[in-house]
Amino acid sequence: MHTIVLATQKGGSGKSTLAIGLALAAMQQGHAVRLIETDPQGTLSNWRRRRDNAQPVVETLAAADELAQRLATFERAGVTLTIIDTAGGLSALTDAALASADLCLIPVRPSVADVEATAATLAAIRGCDRPFAYVLNQTPCRGQRIAHAATALADEAALDAAGVLALPYIVMRNDHQDALGLGLAVSEYAPGGKSADEIRGLWQWIETRLGVEAPALTHDILIEFQPSPDITPASYQLDAAADEIVATAE
Ligand SMILES: Nc1ncnc2c1ncn2[C@@H]1O[C@H](COP(=O)(O)OP(=O)(O)OP(=O)(O)O)[C@@H](O)[C@H]1O
Ligand SMILES: [Mg+2]
Repeated sequence: MHTIVLATQKGGSGKSTLAIGLALAAMQQGHAVRLIETDPQGTLSNWRRRRDNAQPVVETLAAADELAQRLATFERAGVTLTIIDTAGGLSALTDAALASADLCLIPVRPSVADVEATAATLAAIRGCDRPFAYVLNQTPCRGQRIAHAATALADEAALDAAGVLALPYIVMRNDHQDALGLGLAVSEYAPGGKSADEIRGLWQWIETRLGVEAPALTHDILIEFQPSPDITPASYQLDAAADEIVATAE
C-alpha cells in the first residue's frame, strides 16, 4: 500500500479537491483507495454524503496515535492507496500524517503569499525526511505568473524545479467546484474535460514518482464504476524557458 498526504499551512489551496480528484483517478486505474480526513472542517465527509457511489470510503481520524494502526488495517484489507487530507496549519496530526507518507503533496496557488506559506510545511516534511512535491493548483491557463511561481517554489526548496514540481499544473476550472458540490470527482463529472485530463495526468506523474504500477482493473470495488473513457492523458514536460507547461503527444 502507498500513502500520499496532502498538506499545506495555507487554507483553500486545494488539498481536499486534489485528494478527491486523485482518489477517483487512482480508482479508475484499478487502485483500491481509502481517504482519511484529519480536518475537522469535514470537506471530504460532506462530499461523501452527497455521493451515490459508496466508494471511495472516507474515514475520519482525530488522534495522531491512531494513524499507524489505521494504515495497518487498510493494508490488511487490500487497500493499495491511502490518501490523507489534512487541515490547514500545523498540528501533531498533520505531522503524523506527513511522517507516514510515501509522498507528501503540497498544493500551492501561484501567488507570492501562497509560495511563502509553504515554508513551514516544507520544514515539517524535511523534519521527517519524506519525499515531497508541490502541485501548482488554481493556475491561470497560461502566463508568466505560473513560471514565476514555479521558480519561486524551486528556490524555496533549494532544488531543481523538475525535482519538486508535479506535472501538470492544475488550472482553475469550474469543473472542480461543480463536481465537489455534486459529490463527484472531475473525472466522473466531466470525464472528457480538461480538468479531468489534468488530474489523470497528475495521478500518472505521482504513480511514476512512487514507482507503482496500476493494479489490473479487477477489484470488486470497481463494479459500480465506469472506467474513464478512452482518453489517454497527455504527457507534460516542464519547459523552464516557456511560460507554460507543454503537453506532448503520446
Ligand atoms: N483547480 C481548481 N479550480 C477551481 N476551483 C478549485 C480548484 N482547486 C480548488 N478549488 C476550489 O477552491 C476552494 C478551496 O479548495 P479546497 O477546499 O480543496 O482547499 P483546501 O486546501 O482543502 O482548504 P482548507 O485548508 O480549508 O481545507 C474550493 O471551493 C474548491 O472547489
Ligand atoms: Mg480541505
